[in-house]
Order: sequence, then C-alpha cells, then structure tokens
Amino acid sequence: MTVRALSVRPLEAGSAELGEVPEPSSEEGSILCDTVAVGVDGTDEEIVKGSYGEAPPGRARLILGHESLGRVREAPPDSGFAPGDLLVGVVRRPDPVPCENCARGQWDLCRNGRYTERGIKGRDGFLAERFRIEPEFAVRADPALGRLAVLTEPASVVAKAWEHVDRLGSARGYFEPLKALVLGAGPLGLLGAMLGLQRGLDVHVLDLVETGPKPDLAGKLGATYHAGTFDDLDVAFDVVLECTGVGPLALHAIEHVAPGGVACLTGISRAGRTAPALDADALNERIVLGNLVVFGSVNAALRHYEQAQSALAAVDRSWLESLVTRWEPLDRWADALERRDGDVKTVIEFAA
Ligand code: BGC
Ligand code: ZN
Repeated sequence: MTVRALSVRPLEAGSAELGEVPEPSSEEGSILCDTVAVGVDGTDEEIVKGSYGEAPPGRARLILGHESLGRVREAPPDSGFAPGDLLVGVVRRPDPVPCENCARGQWDLCRNGRYTERGIKGRDGFLAERFRIEPEFAVRADPALGRLAVLTEPASVVAKAWEHVDRLGSARGYFEPLKALVLGAGPLGLLGAMLGLQRGLDVHVLDLVETGPKPDLAGKLGATYHAGTFDDLDVAFDVVLECTGVGPLALHAIEHVAPGGVACLTGISRAGRTAPALDADALNERIVLGNLVVFGSVNAALRHYEQAQSALAAVDRSWLESLVTRWEPLDRWADALERRDGDVKTVIEFAA
C-alpha cells in the first residue's frame, strides 16, 4: 500500500512534490497513526526554498513536516497507546554517539550536532497520510484540544525557553520576573506570550504590523501590543523573549533587559544582516553591569511537550482557534507554504 506524502530533494529549490510513497516502515516505530494535521513554519519554508534540510541516509528525498498530530491506528499493547488516541510526535532524536546530553534524554541540548530531526534533518517527517512513531517519542494529546493539539510542537519550543528563563534567572539570585517583552507576534511569539501570562507576568508583544489578526490575538490574551519599533517602549523588562529571528533586533532587544534579567533568543535567519546602529560598548556594558543572562534556545525535550500540552489545555479555546488562520487540505500544500497577509499559523489538515 502507498500513501500520499509531501517531500523535497533537500537544498534544491522547487523540488517539493506531493507523491505516493510506501506505507511507513515499522523501523520508524511500533505505533502507526493516521495523520490528522501538520503545522507549517519558517523552517518548512526554508527547506522548500532549498536553503535547509537533509534527506535520510542513502535517500534523495526528505518527507517534510515536524509539527504533528496523529490518531493511533495500531499500537502494541505495552506502548501505552491504544487505537483512537491522539498523539504528537517528538521532532528530535538523540545523536548516535550519544553525547552527554542526548544520553540523558536532553536531545534538545545535543552537543555534537549529530542529532536528527523528523522532517528537517536526516529523518522523514510527518507530512504523509500515515506516520509511525516510537512510543517513547510520542506525547499523548488531550482529546479536548482536538485538532488544535497540532500546536503542541511549536508550544514546546517556547515552553523550553520559559523553563530555562526561570532556571537561569534563579540560578543567579532572586528572580521573580514581573514584566516580559516578546518580540514577534507570529505563532511562537504569541504562544510565548501565552506562557508568560500563564506565569502571571505583565506581557508586552512587539511586532511590525499595525493591522491584521496579530494585535487582536495579543490583546485577547491579555498582553499589551506595540506596533513598530523599540523607541516608545519601556526600557526595563525582566524577561525578553526574541521570536523574530532578525539578528539586529535580537541584539537591540538586550538593551531592554532590566538588571538581573534574562534574554532568550529563539529565532534565526540566514539573511546576513548587520547591525550598524548598534553601540557595541554600550550593549556590552549593559550586559556586564546588569548581570544579564543572554541565551539561545532551540527544540524541546519530552517534558516540554508535556508542559506545552498543559498550557494549551488551559488557554481559552476560541483564542487557540483564532491563532490558526488557515487550515488547508494536503493537495493545497503549495498554498499552505505561501505566506499571505493576515496569516498567523497555517496547518495542513488531513481528510478524516
Ligand atoms: C523546530 C525545532 C527544530 C528547529 C531547527 C524548528 O522549526 O520547531 O524543533 O529543532 O526548527 O531545525
Ligand atoms: Zn547529542
């Protein structure tokens, strides 16, 4: 039997193609799922543009998709899953050495770069009508969330970021943050703002756009939305969470961290921008005299997927619904991957 899957020849622009592939092999895991939904993000766009991604060893093509939601079709009795359950697949797998972190289930902190990632690096993704997963890399999704549980993976990335903000902040001394600034009102920024509000912080979100769904989404969450630049912003935030990936913005963001505060950078870009307006000495002084923590964060470990699930389950359902601005069927994958005005999150939804 074959299933339809969206795949690319990595590093080759224009190679994306929806085609028939064999049913996933049992080597990919003992649990077989019917795919319910797969979210797309900037990483997928980069892979489709040919600037990122790696096929599985010995293969020319990579099946895309890392933000998964599946319904269990077959699962061994000892897997902890049963037919009908909803689950989310973990993206990263430990490197083969494994390094000290991967050996301890902290593949998100892999130290040798030889980890693999489903749909991204050396391992097929979830953008196929069926996928398989290992029980130890599957996270149960709350049935009450339904198709919105597809937001678990992006939420896990910011759940990890916040967990590490807390850990790093309190490692230095007293740390009870009150005010947070989130840069970027895309899905990651808004989910990051959601987590900050759930921690009881006064959350501010900064993005370029003045119209469209983003200001509203931030406002409905309970965050203060700022359109435009840093200029009219309060100088001091206990936490800054950078979710745009614009390098110069990430550096300027540090200028808005209060003494004893923490800046977490989660985005990347390959645009090669420089930051000519940056006073490097002033920035350095701010970091030193403020005892600041500035750190980068990527991916997530299993517990962060679980934290993400609880956070999503606790937020207003209609807010989550409005975060997904487009649900597209698989055969409209090209439209799904094209960024349009008014898009926040696009999800490819599979026929039931
Ligand atoms: C994914 C992460 C992944 C990163 C780098 C992101 O889009 O959400 O899980 O580690 O890309 O490949
Ligand atoms: Zn490792």
